[in-house]
Amino acid sequence: MSIAIRQIHPVFVGEVSGVDISKPLSRDEVTAIDEGMVRYAILVFHDQKITDEQQMAFTVNFGTLEDARGGNITRPEDRRLQVGMNDVSNLGKDGRPLERDSRVQLFNLGNMLWHSDSSFRPIPAKYSLLSARLVNPIGGNTEYADMRAAYDALDAQTKTLIEDLVCEHSLMHSRGSLGLVDYTEEEKVMFRPVRQRLVRTHPVTGRKSLYLSSHAGAIVGMPTPEARILLRDLTEHATQPQFVYVHRWRPWDFVMWDNRRTMHRVRRYDQSHPRDMRRTTLAGDAPTVAQQV
Ligand SMILES: [Fe+2]
Repeated sequence: MSIAIRQIHPVFVGEVSGVDISKPLSRDEVTAIDEGMVRYAILVFHDQKITDEQQMAFTVNFGTLEDARGGNITRPEDRRLQVGMNDVSNLGKDGRPLERDSRVQLFNLGNMLWHSDSSFRPIPAKYSLLSARLVNPIGGNTEYADMRAAYDALDAQTKTLIEDLVCEHSLMHSRGSLGLVDYTEEEKVMFRPVRQRLVRTHPVTGRKSLYLSSHAGAIVGMPTPEARILLRDLTEHATQPQFVYVHRWRPWDFVMWDNRRTMHRVRRYDQSHPRDMRRTTLAGDAPTVAQQV
């Protein structure tokens, strides 16, 4: 059995066959997947029945696990999954769907806005890896946008305008746009804005891409309404159908993506049905721009 990768979208996304990610990988397999990520930005694997331990073991072939603290409002004692696993289900610790109006549930709905994982951290995430354990009967697709192709398609004037712009990203902005505006003092400190370049250069390919996310709520040195209009325009541009891949989940699908050059969102689904999706996240190498001290 050897790895094969087939491109399944005109501008990005490879579908991988010939590998069992529940088992330790050979050096050649790690290299093939690494090269596939550089080439396609997103890799889709099917029929990967894995445990959390196997998912974490596979993940660390490609980097270091990100410290998940500060990325949600779930209290440590309410966590359903062990440290190292990001819970992106709609389930509580008891394994049942969260109450419709629970604060955690409402906060999690922010995943339905276009974003790049951890863009609210000073050093944002490299890859995210998502395992579908229990899938919804209707809805719940994940959509991915190729931010490199979106950047390439901008006109020269816009490229010049945005080249050196720096945005401020915060979970309070993405959630605030959904009407969630009440935070404890501790959360306000945890979610304080960080700076990210609007155009970033990929460390491996050297190609530029837009770095957008619904967490971005301001641009340094620009009046806020002007900044938000620009960010909306760019997001509309970047999420046109020709740049978007729609993943329709099947149980035990496994998708890994490069957050440095893609954005994603989950589509609405019936929250009364359990959906069990488990993510591992790889830490990025460096900030995209110097932070404010
Ligand atoms: Fe996400």
